[in-house]
Amino acid sequence: MDRLDKTVAKQMNISRSAARQMIRKGAVEVNGEKVFAADLQLDINNDELKIGGKVIVMRKYLYIMLNKPSGVLSAAKDPDCPTVIDLMPPELSRRGLFPAGRLDKDTTGLLVITDDGDFAHRLISPSHHVYKTYEATLESEIGEEELDRIRAGITLGDGTECLPARVSVMDESSKLVRVQIREGKYHQVKRMFAAVGNSVEKLHRSAIGALKLDSSLSYGEARLLTDSELQSIFEDIGE
Ligand code: URA
Repeated sequence: MDRLDKTVAKQMNISRSAARQMIRKGAVEVNGEKVFAADLQLDINNDELKIGGKVIVMRKYLYIMLNKPSGVLSAAKDPDCPTVIDLMPPELSRRGLFPAGRLDKDTTGLLVITDDGDFAHRLISPSHHVYKTYEATLESEIGEEELDRIRAGITLGDGTECLPARVSVMDESSKLVRVQIREGKYHQVKRMFAAVGNSVEKLHRSAIGALKLDSSLSYGEARLLTDSELQSIFEDIGE
């Protein structure tokens, strides 16, 4: 059970006193009834909360799938550039959300947004072996020898060693490749291909573990993950 003013503040990303004011003004309904008592105890799993007439998702933690567009930062806040958190629709906005992992500003595709720190750690940490799948468009054709060097675990230009990666060519031109890595070093995919004398022109993440990006989500769109999708993150999609 949680206090009403605390829950409203968290869900609306506002201060506790602003939440109390909303409650006093009659903007908050619980199970279809206006409520004016800030200290009302809410059961977040069974009670229905409406704020300003809109139903609010009251789960303890949120797990959101976003199709990240290019030009947006994988950060919670930035003074100069729009962030993935700015893209959250009002019904999914709440304090404490952050991206579980990072995609470069120009990288597109699947990003999970959450407020569950332990979950994010499991997803990001290489020791949990969650493979992230990318589609990379390369500047020039790539040969088997270069692919094998990446498969074996390549050493980047600055001496950083990468874990073995899965990589395969996706089209005739040998410029579109599918890459799977289970760590997230800075600009890792781009630097892996730079280390074999190539260059990544476009990068898109299509899966995390066995969770695939929902193809009905346009760039910038987000939705809650289902429970089975959440589980699938920690399963292997295979090569
Ligand atoms: N590797 C990169 O180089 N960039 C990303 O955004 C993700 C992985």
